[in-house]
Amino acid sequence: MYNPFSLSGKRVLVTGASSGIGRAIAIECSKMGAQIILTARNAERLDETLSMMDASQIHQIIPVDLSSEEGLRLLVERVSEPLDGVVNCAGMTMPKPFRFISDTDVEMIMGVNFKAPAILLQQLLKRKRINKGASLVFISSIAGVWVSFTGESLYSASKGAVNGLMKSMAIELAGKGIRVNCVNPGMIDTQFLKSGSITEEQLQEDAKRYPLGRYGKPEEVAYAVIYLLSDASIWMTGSNLLIDGGYTLL
Ligand SMILES: NC(=O)c1ccc[n+]([C@@H]2O[C@H](COP(=O)([O-])OP(=O)(O)OC[C@H]3O[C@@H](n4cnc5c(N)ncnc54)[C@H](OP(=O)(O)O)[C@@H]3O)[C@@H](O)[C@H]2O)c1
Repeated sequence: MYNPFSLSGKRVLVTGASSGIGRAIAIECSKMGAQIILTARNAERLDETLSMMDASQIHQIIPVDLSSEEGLRLLVERVSEPLDGVVNCAGMTMPKPFRFISDTDVEMIMGVNFKAPAILLQQLLKRKRINKGASLVFISSIAGVWVSFTGESLYSASKGAVNGLMKSMAIELAGKGIRVNCVNPGMIDTQFLKSGSITEEQLQEDAKRYPLGRYGKPEEVAYAVIYLLSDASIWMTGSNLLIDGGYTLL
């Protein structure tokens, strides 16, 4: 059946696949025919993700901590065959007023959100583990490009850094037909929202500020990722795809 969004025959690495948006990406991409390599720290939750995926392909789990050099090295080593796509979704936040941030906070947030995907892709490219014509996707944020929030200076900075990286990589890799894009979600209903000190009531109130009347769902981000991984987006590189229920319009 004609389907320009098919991921059939594509091998895709998804980081942060143990929960939230990364889990939805792994599940939805498997349903579109992709063979997935799932990674995150928590092996049990990666297994849970695997149990929810389409099983017509053989998927692989590689549990590592992306904040450590050892974890990154192990992941790169265990990717034994070239990839057609990488989705950099693992990420963290640690809401804190700017005047209280420490060196350790900077290292931790920049380490997971920026350094890890940068070094991972650099190493995969160096070892020829990224196919010509592959699609590389970063899950950035509206907070990296358009807006920010109180206590999110480091998070915004890390996502802004990812955005800069994406643009230069897109130029450098275009000759090989490798495309590099960002997806920039507004608030998505995942565990991530519980990492701060915001109450459930405050979150419900905040969701009303979205023109479409609610926060997004993880699979709604996954559908954009499917588009970017598929040949339907073959002429798209260096772009920021905004998915925010209209939030940044106001
Ligand atoms: N939810 C939102 O509102 C929202 C909005 C815009 C952008 N985003 C971005 O979307 C991405 C996913 O967020 P989410 O909402 O799905 O959050 P989540 O449910 O907390 O998922 C975060 C993922 O990152 C992984 N991770 C964190 N630290 C890691 C480390 N050191 N090594 C390896 N994996 C690590 C976690 O796995 P383990 O704990 O198993 O390691 C988990 O799979 C993040 O990059 C986030 O910045 C989220």
